[in-house]
Amino acid sequence: MKITTARLGTAGPEVGVQGLGCMGMSFAYGPTDADEARATLERALDLGVTLYDTADAYASGENEKFLAPFFAAHRDEVVIATKCALAIDPADSTKRIINNAPEYLRACVDASLSRLGVDVIDLYYLHRRDPKVPIEETVGVLAELVAAGKVKQLGLSEVTGDELRAAHAVHPIAALQSEWSLFSRDIERAVVPAAAELGVTLVPYSPLGRGFLTGSFVSADKELTEGDFRRQQPRFTGANAEANAALLDPIRTVAAAHGATPAQTALAWVQQRSGSHGLPVVPIPGTRKRTRLEENTAATRVELTPADLALLEPIAARVSGNRYADMTFASAGRE
Ligand SMILES: NC(=O)c1ccc[n+]([C@@H]2O[C@H](COP(=O)([O-])OP(=O)(O)OC[C@H]3O[C@@H](n4cnc5c(N)ncnc54)[C@H](OP(=O)(O)O)[C@@H]3O)[C@@H](O)[C@H]2O)c1
Repeated sequence: MKITTARLGTAGPEVGVQGLGCMGMSFAYGPTDADEARATLERALDLGVTLYDTADAYASGENEKFLAPFFAAHRDEVVIATKCALAIDPADSTKRIINNAPEYLRACVDASLSRLGVDVIDLYYLHRRDPKVPIEETVGVLAELVAAGKVKQLGLSEVTGDELRAAHAVHPIAALQSEWSLFSRDIERAVVPAAAELGVTLVPYSPLGRGFLTGSFVSADKELTEGDFRRQQPRFTGANAEANAALLDPIRTVAAAHGATPAQTALAWVQQRSGSHGLPVVPIPGTRKRTRLEENTAATRVELTPADLALLEPIAARVSGNRYADMTFASAGRE
């Protein structure tokens, strides 16, 4: 059965109400079986998933190249989302470089178009804003890319509510992609209300808490492979990880009551933010495996009750450790 749909912004395309995060297929979360990842992309389309999320930063363009044959085979059925303005520091792979210089952004879009093998990007996100550059100027450059026919819709990631308002006044923003999950609710303070007011669709990234909410690992430093990005994140390591694992019990309780899995419960919760906050919500859980994709898309049919929501409500406030080691990297660090 295909999943239902939602619109990106007021003038963007209708997409499956759950998208697919493709980052892990090439980057950040350990070794990948490329054949299974390709089969997962195809299965996603069968199930009505149409929004595919990548970025030029993921494995320095390799993730976009990995997706290109799939996009070529299904160009009219998919909505391609990629991002600019963020790169991995070549001198230190744990560091990120944010660059909002106009000439850099103009070069980024051409490079992404070439790697993706398409002549237009459906949704182009500013991956991170450089607070030293007025966001109006940066969005002005992205608007030129729309006018030039290289990009159809604009998105932002990890901006504050005020930044979203300022950007939207320059050019309509179709989608705001930020972390939103049972463990990460800081955007509910100012970003989500601004998006609801402006008609911007929320695209929650890491809706499974980068896998932690599924219970598939506890201690990133002990259980995940060398180079896995989660080993750098304070909440998945040391005493924080152990304290946070104890917070998963209510998720398991709710899951059991619905004959669902913890992953499905976490996804159903984020999907139901749409009703509670009055805006379209299109989460993009990341998976490289068909069985998990089937599990995740089936979560769109799990309806949590008010009693379930009450049980899950206290979790986020009890999480130990930040989302990032450097929180200037996140909108909450600038609010
Ligand atoms: N804008 C940004 O700054 C930003 C930041 C991070 C991510 N993103 C985007 O958001 C997407 C999703 O976020 P994410 O990948 O970080 O985190 P996520 O979706 O919360 O979790 C992904 C992790 O959960 C595992 N997983 C998925 N489904 C599962 C299931 N049913 N049961 C058990 N484990 C499961 C995946 O492993 P397998 O792959 O092995 O299944 C992977 O390790 C990314 O792919 C990327 O496109 C954007």
